[in-house]
Amino acid sequence: MNKPVTAPNPNPTADEVERAWKDPKLANVLYHDWEASTYDEKWSISYDERCIDYARDRFVAAVGRDDMARWPYGEVLELGSGTGFFLLNLMQAGVATKGHVTDLSPGMVEAAVRNGTELGLDVEGRVADAESIPYDDASVDLVVGHAVLHHIPDVELALREVLRVLRPGGRFVFAGEPTTIGDWYARRLGRLTWEATTAVTHLAPLRQRWSRPAEELAESSRAAALEAVVDIHTFDPRALAATALRAGAIDVSTATEELTAAFLGWPVRTFEAAVNPQRLGMRWAMFAYRSWQRLSAVDRVLAHALPQRLFYNVLLTGSRPE
Ligand SMILES: C[S@@+](CC[C@H](N)C(=O)[O-])C[C@H]1O[C@@H](n2cnc3c(N)ncnc32)[C@H](O)[C@@H]1O
Repeated sequence: MNKPVTAPNPNPTADEVERAWKDPKLANVLYHDWEASTYDEKWSISYDERCIDYARDRFVAAVGRDDMARWPYGEVLELGSGTGFFLLNLMQAGVATKGHVTDLSPGMVEAAVRNGTELGLDVEGRVADAESIPYDDASVDLVVGHAVLHHIPDVELALREVLRVLRPGGRFVFAGEPTTIGDWYARRLGRLTWEATTAVTHLAPLRQRWSRPAEELAESSRAAALEAVVDIHTFDPRALAATALRAGAIDVSTATEELTAAFLGWPVRTFEAAVNPQRLGMRWAMFAYRSWQRLSAVDRVLAHALPQRLFYNVLLTGSRPE
């Protein structure tokens, strides 16, 4: 990017969009500013028991139950917070007391601070690039992130920055990152579901009630095209751990989740994006969530027998040396 961006920009100029194709950071700002107001709805993000449990379970899957003895962490910084899904729900779960929600997208920081304030949480927000975090050395106890590392051009540089802002002994936890194999099957399943669903819902007897308006479908296609620019990496779990060690972390470990759950989850999410949302009520949402939960339980058993790299999501944790 040529200049730091400090205010949301939901209506970029044609020139900015053109430059974004060659500049992943500018693409991230434009794409996520544009998504900020509808992001929670698009990804079924909420700040109730369902998402509190989800966030806490991801954290525990990364660090283990023994870490609960350290809760609540004091000053906690989230990188790429988006609307605050991970940190705000971790705070509600009792993992952290003071939250700093940061993101490259000013629109997302605004949304995260608004969400945190509405929940009555102690949060501050700041626009921040993970490759040059605007916080002092040794100023926070824990750094977290969810679905952010794969957007950052230089992941090792970002992890060095994470270690710099952590106090000695402080921990980092990143969850929700795509593995290379997982991303391969998720994209194929998503594309097949999109093509099948849009073909069927455009048949005359179904079109009126089931298909999404043409302009919404066109918008989804434009979003999918920009996603190709903002999604920079997929990870082999071992290589990701090696990156954290090179950055200077200790006690580094990875865990992976979602195999059969991803085989269900990606078609379900794509189906939801392709059809008229008014056709899918609460019963559908509960069916999808419960099915995902059951398959995730199967995957936890499979994780004892199968290599990490086959699963869809990788989680990474490590610490700053004392
Ligand atoms: C997929 S979204 C995830 C948002 C949120 N963590 C969640 O799980 O809902 C990725 C977020 O990372 C942010 N991001 C991308 N590149 C970044 C960077 N270099 N530094 C900080 N944030 C970045 C994007 O603006 C976006 O809000």
